[in-house]
Amino acid sequence: PAGPVLDALARPLHDLRISVTDRCNFRCVYCMPKEVFDKDYDYLPHSALLSFEEITRVARLFVAHGVEKIRLTGGEPLLRKDIERLVGMLRELPTASGRPLDLTLTTNGSLLARKARALKQAGLDRVTVSLDALDDATFKRMNDVDFAVADVLKGLDAAHAAGLGPIKVNMVVKRGMNDDQVLPMARHFKDAPFILRFIEYMDVGASNGWNMDEVIPSGEIVRRIDAEMPLEPIAPNYPGETAARWRYRDGRGEIGLVSSVTQAFCKDCTRMRLSTEGKLYTCLFATRGHDLRALLREGRSDLEIGNAIAGLWSNRADRYSETRAIATPGFEPGAKKVEMSYIGG
Ligand code: GTP
Ligand code: 5AD
Ligand code: SF4
Ligand code: SF4
Repeated sequence: PAGPVLDALARPLHDLRISVTDRCNFRCVYCMPKEVFDKDYDYLPHSALLSFEEITRVARLFVAHGVEKIRLTGGEPLLRKDIERLVGMLRELPTASGRPLDLTLTTNGSLLARKARALKQAGLDRVTVSLDALDDATFKRMNDVDFAVADVLKGLDAAHAAGLGPIKVNMVVKRGMNDDQVLPMARHFKDAPFILRFIEYMDVGASNGWNMDEVIPSGEIVRRIDAEMPLEPIAPNYPGETAARWRYRDGRGEIGLVSSVTQAFCKDCTRMRLSTEGKLYTCLFATRGHDLRALLREGRSDLEIGNAIAGLWSNRADRYSETRAIATPGFEPGAKKVEMSYIGG
């Protein structure tokens, strides 16, 4: 029977993150480094991708099992042709509780100025935009393409004008690469209608050559900003929020710190991920997915697929970030973690 479902650690299924493409027009060093994601990289062929109809069918079953937040990700979701059509289809889904579905999307902002209005019109609630620097040279060092920061800022303004808020800006901080941008970014977004969030560089996937020395702990970021613009902690918006919130003591704005390395938040993790080709992942750091596309294309009923989803969630015991200490390279034998561009940020 449909209804809320708890995993093995009593965490409810609440969010579904859907990767709509494994492609991206950026090559961020922490996500799709150029050496791995080069012209010979095997991206998924179109026939492997879930269609919008397949995605919507799966999403409908998730929503029936208690999901109230859907995030479209990638790769870069705005590269998927007619993405606003999918937004419109998901907008129609009724939640089990009757509360409105929170429908959101994570983007690098490169196509946002062009697409913001159509996304809003199709029913998207809000967007989160990745931006790792204000300075063009540093921005380019992080994403390895020639794209002007000013154009991402135009995308942010267009999203704001279209009413796609509250808008968050995600900055991954990598020591020695862009950490000199922490203060300029904080100053720029303070007093602006955008919530800046600093993300600890994570050991996700198998390509980025992660090293703990390159992580700046969130505690250090708070100290750096607080020294110039005093901060105080505030309560989370909802249980299990990825970001810890801090507000400026002058009452003008807030920031968030996503500390998956130094302060793991698995305890309240309510997120399931659907990959571009229809595999379900119960953790961002999973090494193996569960093939839902096979069930869809074999002609299984909604009841069977819904039961498969509920069964997978009920058995879930993942808490990778909390156990990372023993899972660092050298300890975990062989298994290759899945790439974030494929599974969805
Ligand atoms: P809101 O709905 O606005 O609160 O967004 P969110 O924080 O749930 O989603 P967002 O995609 O903005 O997450 C921010 C960043 O947190 C991601 O880009 C990841 O780096 C990280 N993150 C999100 N979910 C998880 C997770 O389940 N595990 C870990 N380890 N990191 C995550
Ligand atoms: N560490 C932290 N965040 C990452 N992202 C991708 N790769 C990583 C990583 N290795 C997140 C960033 C980006 C979003 C699309 O995915 O937050 O903004
Ligand atoms: Fe693309 Fe986002 Fe990954 Fe950067 S972090 S390569 S913008 S999917
Ligand atoms: Fe959830 Fe896995 Fe991230 Fe922990 S590491 S918060 S269990 S996705």
